[in-house]
Amino acid sequence: MNKITRKPTTVLYPVPAVMVSCGTGDAANIITLAWVGTLCSKPPLIGLGVRPSRHSHGLIRQAGEFVVNLPSAKHAKWLDYCGVVSGRDENKWAGCGFTKVKGTAVDVPFIAECPVNIECRLDQTLSLGVHDLFIGEVLAVQVDESVLDDRGKIDFEKAKPFAYLNGEYRQIGELLGTYGYSKKG
Ligand SMILES: Cc1cc2nc3c(=O)[nH]c(=O)nc-3n(C[C@H](O)[C@H](O)[C@H](O)COP(=O)(O)O)c2cc1C
Repeated sequence: MNKITRKPTTVLYPVPAVMVSCGTGDAANIITLAWVGTLCSKPPLIGLGVRPSRHSHGLIRQAGEFVVNLPSAKHAKWLDYCGVVSGRDENKWAGCGFTKVKGTAVDVPFIAECPVNIECRLDQTLSLGVHDLFIGEVLAVQVDESVLDDRGKIDFEKAKPFAYLNGEYRQIGELLGTYGYSKKG
């Protein structure tokens, strides 16, 4: 073992890379986020780390709602675009050619082209430092039929998820096992 000590940063990888839709009507926007995680199962809570300088920060606070849109590999370029351009300067919906669909539980539109859309109501906001933590309760989940298997489960061969690893987008590949497989004969 020969470890090299580095300065403390959030090197954690892989992390999700998602497109969060926020705001309503013509003001609706999309922001790419990687500081995102599941925080609790009951109630179902998702956390987003968002810098107050982002245009989307105010939209999430104002509407008190957001939608976490999970992309497929084919959306990687658009996900990157939504993370380098501000909604203050460009209409990202038009830029990506994405279709707005009104949520079933929230007024914020979701991205029709993404296979999974998680509709959330803002529950708490914590100021952590350069990022604020938005904690949202999941109110509804939309799943595109085209990514389901015959038992109604998400088929990841079809959904083609990808992750963010310290600046790189990488598609998730080989199946290593399934939950609890280590204890099964
Ligand atoms: C892969 C990727 C991940 C990002 N993750 C975050 C994040 O977790 N939190 C954040 O505040 N900004 C993050 N950003 C930066 C914002 O997406 C970017 O500043 C965006 O232009 C803000 O858009 P807006 O001004 O329309 O809100 C990320 C960008 C990329 C490309």
